[in-house]
Formats: sequence, C-alpha cells, structure tokens
Amino acid sequence: MKNIALPPDIKMEWHSQLDSTNLCLLQREAQEGLLVVADEQVAGRGRLGRTWQSLSGMNLYFSFALRPSQSARMWGTLPLTVGVGVAEALISMGFSPGLKWPNDVFLDRKKVGGILLEAKDALVVAGVGLNVNQQKFPGLSEATSLSLAAGKPLNRQQVLETTVNCVWSWYCRWRVDGPREMLQQWRKYDVLLGREVTVDIQGRVVSGMAVDIAPDGCLKLGDASGQEILVSSGDATLKPFVRA
Ligand code: BTN
Repeated sequence: MKNIALPPDIKMEWHSQLDSTNLCLLQREAQEGLLVVADEQVAGRGRLGRTWQSLSGMNLYFSFALRPSQSARMWGTLPLTVGVGVAEALISMGFSPGLKWPNDVFLDRKKVGGILLEAKDALVVAGVGLNVNQQKFPGLSEATSLSLAAGKPLNRQQVLETTVNCVWSWYCRWRVDGPREMLQQWRKYDVLLGREVTVDIQGRVVSGMAVDIAPDGCLKLGDASGQEILVSSGDATLKPFVRA
C-alpha cells in the first residue's frame, strides 16, 4: 500500500488505526499539505456530533491539514471545494455523483461520502470519508459504496490517489482565485437546486426552494412569500421534515 503519486506539496502519513484522522491533525501543529490516512477509525467523526462508521480496510478515511490565508469568512466555501474535488474524482472513475449542500456526496440517491471541516486557530482540517468496498450498511438504509454502484470491488489506493489529486487541485485553485469557479462546478452537481428543501438548523426548521449557493457558501432558499433565506449550516433534506 501507500505507493501512490501525490502532488509534491502533499506529505502523506498512513496509519492502520486511529481514533479519527481529523482529530489526529487537530491535536498537533500540522503544516499545510499534511495528509493523514487511516485503514480504520475507532472514533470517526461526522457532522453535527455524529459518528462516522469506519470499518477496517474497506473504505477511505483521510484528512488534509490546510492553512488558508483567506479570511475565515471564506472558509464556508471550503467544504464545497472539497466536495467538488471528490465529485470530479468520481466522475473520472466513471461514476455520476451528486453533491448535497454542504458536505454530502451522493450516488444513486444514496450517500457514498461525507466531508467534515474542523478548525483550530489558523489550522483547518478537511476530512473525507468515502465508502469504497463496504457491501452492507446495517441501520443505514440511505448509504451506499462505490463498489455497490460499480458492481465490482475497487482498488482503494487508486481511488485515494485520484481523489486526493482532484481535491488538492481544487483547493489550490480556491487558494489563488477564490470560490467563483468552484461554485460554478458545484451547481452542476447540486442535487438540491430548484427543489423544495427543509433545513434543520439545530432544531429550528426552515423550508423553501433551493435557489443558489451564495459566494460565502451559504445555501439560498426562496420562501413562499418570495423572501430569500440564507442558511450557513444545518442538515438539508428533500423530504418533508419529520421531527424524531
Ligand atoms: C458527515 O457526513 O457527517 C461527515 C463525515 C466525515 C467523515 C470523515 S472520515 C475521515 C475524517 N475523519 C473523521 O473523523 N471524520 C472525517
């Protein structure tokens, strides 16, 4: 494993087991371009305090250390930038992914990957979980893997190489030119645009038509009275919202 072609400014560490690749980077003064990969996470972190199921040797779990010079105001577009990189990697492998604001990667209307950004001072950690060869998702009816979609097992190392290169290339463009071009690409893959969505913002529920993504990464909703609502974080769903 680990003999993969990476951009020259990426340094990779591969661990057989970690609590979480995000946590591993947050706990040290990681420099930009450090990439941590784990075969297994025993405390994989998802968004909004959830856990990310991280079985051994089947999927990809990796995190980049970033030190963006842009003001923190622009960091809201970073999860989308990583998402566009993941989507374009999957396209180059023959898949047809969709992206759901702000951090979900979809295949066949099921979630195949997730992105989690966490920051500590000037360090931003961008973590990606991608289901590659997992065949069963007990208790997760809305999850899938690349292998289930392709009907055959995939080489994790190749998937990692392609994905890291695409994500890094988009991050480098974002660093130099900002998010404009990335947002144009995002709109091509966005599964919410033009549809009625409901967003749960820590228990407060807002609904409307997804009309666009704002330059700072917020989801723009249009409500029934024609008002625009900007949502900076939350869980978006296409289904009518049912409170648990
Ligand atoms: C989500 O959809 O909730 C985001 C999931 C992000 C999971 C990845 S796996 C690699 C990195 N390390 C973590 O602990 N989480 C992210």
